[in-house]
Amino acid sequence: MSPAAPPDTSVAIGAVRLPNPVIAASGTFGYGTEFAGLVDLGAIGAISVKGLSLAPARGKPPPRLIETPAGMLNAIGLQNIGVETFLRERLPALAAAGARVVANFWGDSAEEFAACAARLDGAPGLVALELNASSPNRPEWGRILATDPPALAAIVRAVRARVHLPLWVKLSPNVGDIVVVGQAAAAEGADALTAINTLRGMAIDLETRRPRLASGAGGLSGPAIKPVALRMVYELVHAVDVPVIGVGGIRTGEDALEFLCCGASAVQVGTATFYDPAAPVRIADEIARWCHRHGISRVADVIGTLRT
Ligand SMILES: Cc1cc2nc3c(=O)[nH]c(=O)nc-3n(C[C@H](O)[C@H](O)[C@H](O)COP(=O)(O)O)c2cc1C
Repeated sequence: MSPAAPPDTSVAIGAVRLPNPVIAASGTFGYGTEFAGLVDLGAIGAISVKGLSLAPARGKPPPRLIETPAGMLNAIGLQNIGVETFLRERLPALAAAGARVVANFWGDSAEEFAACAARLDGAPGLVALELNASSPNRPEWGRILATDPPALAAIVRAVRARVHLPLWVKLSPNVGDIVVVGQAAAAEGADALTAINTLRGMAIDLETRRPRLASGAGGLSGPAIKPVALRMVYELVHAVDVPVIGVGGIRTGEDALEFLCCGASAVQVGTATFYDPAAPVRIADEIARWCHRHGISRVADVIGTLRT
C-alpha cells in the first residue's frame, strides 16, 4: 500500500493564510534576517519581528537575560532599531527571502501606537500587525498596559482607525482574568489575539544578595509557562469570536499540537529558538509527521478538538 500523501499544513488566522501554523515569536528571532544563513525563512509559517517603535530604543542595561529552571527571564526593555530603519534595511530582505512578516510594534501612548502602526501598514511583505502592550519590561508605561482593559481598548481603537492590515493584539498573562482583556481588544476590532507574553518574575543571586537581572524583575518564558499559556488560550477561545494564536513554552510539535487542540489557530515559538534557531521549521515538520502518523490529512482539523 502506498503511503498517504503528506498532510495539508496550511492554516488561516482570519484573513491571514499561512503555509504552516508555526510563527517565530517576537523578540526571540531578531528581525529574521540574522537567521537567513541558518534557516529557510520562507519555510517558517510567519516571522513576528522584534517589537518596533517610532524611534529606535536602547532597552535596559545588562545583565538582562537569565536562565531559570525550565525557562528564562528577560528584561530587554523593547530595544529596537525603530520603524524607519526596519522598513528601509530589514523588511525588503525578509520579503525577498519569501518570509511572511508580522510587525510587532509598541508605543508609549495610544497616539504613538497608532502612528507606528500607520507607518507600517501596507508595507510590502507584511501580513499582519501585532500590537504589544503586554511587555513587563517597559517601566515608562507605569504598568503593563494590557492588564488594564480600558487602557488597552483605547490603544486598539486608536490603532484600528489608522490601519488596514489584520491587527493581532498580544495579551499579558499578568492578569486575574485574561478573558476580560481579550474581549476588550476584540470589541475594538482586533482581528486575532496572541496569548501569552511573559510572566513577571525575578531571580536572586544569594551570594551578592542582589537580583540577577540589572533591572530587578523581568519576564519569564519557556517550558515553565506552557501550562499557564494553554489554560489562557483555552479560556480565550471559548470567550471571543476572533482567532487565538497560542504562545508559551512550545519546544516540540506535540507541544504545538496541544495548543491547536485547545483551539489555537496557530502557534508562536520563542525561547526554543535560543538553543535551536531552526525550531520553528523543525516544529512545523514534527506537527506534519504527527498528523501523518495519526491519519490526519489536514493539520487544521486538529484545531479545537480537545475533549473535555
Ligand atoms: C528575549 C525576549 C524578548 C521578547 N521581546 C518581545 C517583544 O519585543 N514583543 C513581544 O510582543 N513579545 C516579546 N517577547 C515575548 C515572546 O514573544 C513570547 O510571547 C514569550 O517569550 C513566550 O513564548 P516562549 O515561551 O516560546 O518564549 C520576548 C521574549 C523574550 C524571551
